[in-house]
Amino acid sequence: ISKKNKKKHFLSLSEGIFAYLNYHVPRTRREILEVLIKGLHRLEYRGYDSAGVGIDGGNSKEWETNSKNIHLIKQTGKVKALDEEIHRQQDVDLDVEFDVHLGIAHTRWATHGVPSPVNSHPQRSDKNNEFIVIHNGIITNYKDLKKFLESKGYEFESETDTETIAKLVKYMYDNRESDAITFATLVEQVTQQLEGAFALVFKSVHYPGEAVGSRRGGPLLIGVRSDHKFSTDHIPILYRSSGKDKKSCNTLPRMDEDTCLFPVDEKAVEYYFASDASAVIEHTNRVIFLEDDDIAAVRDGHLSIHRIKRTAGDHPARAIQTLQMELQQIMKGNFSSFMQKEIFEQPESVVNTMRGRVNFENNTVILGGLKDHIKEIQRCRRLIMIACGTSYHAGVATRQVLEELTELPVMVELASDFLDRNTPVFRDDVCFFISQSGETADSLLALRYCKERGALTVGITNTVGSSVSRETDCGVHINAGPEIGVASTKAYTSQFVALIMFALLMCDDRISVQPRRREIIQGLKVLPDLIKEVLSLDEEIQKLAAELYQQKSVLIMGRGYHYATCLEGALKIKEITYMHSEGILAGELKHGPLALVDKLMPVIMIIMRDHTYTKCQNALQQVVARQGRPIVICDKEDYETIKNSSRTIKVPHSVDCLQGILSVIPLQLLSFHLAVLRGYDVRLFSTHFHLTS
Ligand code: UD1
Ligand code: M6R
Repeated sequence: ISKKNKKKHFLSLSEGIFAYLNYHVPRTRREILEVLIKGLHRLEYRGYDSAGVGIDGGNSKEWETNSKNIHLIKQTGKVKALDEEIHRQQDVDLDVEFDVHLGIAHTRWATHGVPSPVNSHPQRSDKNNEFIVIHNGIITNYKDLKKFLESKGYEFESETDTETIAKLVKYMYDNRESDAITFATLVEQVTQQLEGAFALVFKSVHYPGEAVGSRRGGPLLIGVRSDHKFSTDHIPILYRSSGKDKKSCNTLPRMDEDTCLFPVDEKAVEYYFASDASAVIEHTNRVIFLEDDDIAAVRDGHLSIHRIKRTAGDHPARAIQTLQMELQQIMKGNFSSFMQKEIFEQPESVVNTMRGRVNFENNTVILGGLKDHIKEIQRCRRLIMIACGTSYHAGVATRQVLEELTELPVMVELASDFLDRNTPVFRDDVCFFISQSGETADSLLALRYCKERGALTVGITNTVGSSVSRETDCGVHINAGPEIGVASTKAYTSQFVALIMFALLMCDDRISVQPRRREIIQGLKVLPDLIKEVLSLDEEIQKLAAELYQQKSVLIMGRGYHYATCLEGALKIKEITYMHSEGILAGELKHGPLALVDKLMPVIMIIMRDHTYTKCQNALQQVVARQGRPIVICDKEDYETIKNSSRTIKVPHSVDCLQGILSVIPLQLLSFHLAVLRGYDVRLFSTHFHLTS
């Protein structure tokens, strides 16, 4: 198994992990399942399409006997459906009592394989469920690991990346050097082989009543509850000895009173592992937040945390923190609405779109979903992008770079209009269907229409298992994580990035475009940081919203790469603020729309330093000549525009064809703040986490 580098990864906050360990706190199976199901309900708001639990099976009076047998219950759909499935189980006695027990539970958002019970978590090592695991995140090297494990005779049943983790831990166990190997050491061996981003919790029949969790790039915390005083309020990190002699490399320092957390007087204690505090807070407000590469293990009711090696700057202990908040507050998350949360997720969601696909070192792009079709696509007569709403704008936004890099005619069509026109489509056309949900009726009808005419159909969707994903010949999952807010924000920027990746792939063997390809790929590399920089303008944009929110209308003007931003900004404003807004192609101003401009009409203009710069300056002059006082979204280093405009929103510079990702974010933020100020329920939630040690 390759031992590649472990890079820092971001992980968008979808999916949910919840595990509950009761140690000398007797609980019936019914009570345990209730805790697990409730935990999953608390995580529901993050979005998911299937759920599952893993508990001790067996109906004996002895928990030791029952823990030799793990029972999995998994279901597609809502947590409620899982709960119903649990109650349908004939062979599960809900009244059996467990003095010690670990139950693990998960809500899954499909990225590897469709939503189905077999693809849901927990994933298992084998038919006897010797090891089971729940996982948030993506393992990017899972194909290599799977190949390796298959060569060793391990059989896979699901399409998930997670299953490789369950098999790998069994492989490590089957090939252990000593029977004394701890569960934590096994998990450590496993995580060393994983690339990507993860939060994990493991359970095993070989380690009854024990739990091991680890994370890299995804959040994981542990809630602790006991009626008795804990041995410590800072859990010291155990480091595997740096070991001059080889033997000691494999041993951890002894776990004793000074290195573990446990209740001092009595043994009774409960632990809750969760990917977010909302699942834990109703049980306890005492929590430990794990850091990347921590391995946390509960054994004999003692919680210890270890790491392989100490690095400079490591904190030597994890504090038990007290969450100062109410359940209701936590449910609200860090943001006041899903829309706001998703806008702020964009530095991570664009990374997830590119994860495992763009190699910034050797400037290559791999789209697993298109590789078998790319030759056919390169030979086609034209590309037709078909979509609705925001997804249509992603097509408009990338059309120019698609034309440039594919050298093919590119049509961008609104699905409804495309159908209304009975647009001619031929066998040598390639039709793209861009859809966040993958279920939009007009897009689906257009997809079937194109299929009937023999065109190759390609999906660009965020939803694995959706109709677009299933019915297209091939495609790209944008992997932005669930988009729950009605207003599409992070899906737009991820669709944008996916289409750019496609354009790059189409020309990867054309020597003449290599400098341009490199420029764009290096632009993609720094994009997350630039998005963060734009998001830091939030307060400034909120102030602007305060000046605008009582207006009736906002015009948004731009051209070239930013025409799509105008359309998208205006759509966002209409959709959630109920204000009139229009996206206007600046080249069309003199053909009519200029009549709307006067000193009272709010105008936003987008002017960037690309090939349309001079034309945009002309448009600015036309607007100013009519006494308009536009707010200009411009490059922060475009001193001329800054000097000539009364009001600017300054964004960082990117490659011309990526700049639209940065110009749209201020408008996403503006529409959000306008809606709040106008008193519309952008929906739900507020308040930050307050932590005290
Ligand atoms: C796959 C994994 C991805 C992982 C990557 C790592 C799945 C679903 N995806 O991604 O999470 O990071 O390997 O190697 O397992 N498809 C359609 N129509 C669509 C979208 C996709 O037919 O609208 C098809 C693709 O052609 C492909 C499959 O679905 O056959 C998976 O697509 P995608 O997730 O984009 O593939 P990878 O990038 O290889
Ligand atoms: O799921 P889809 O991308 O197919 O949805 C298409 C449109 O309905 C959608 O983008 C809509 O315009 C957004 N809610 C706007 O924010």
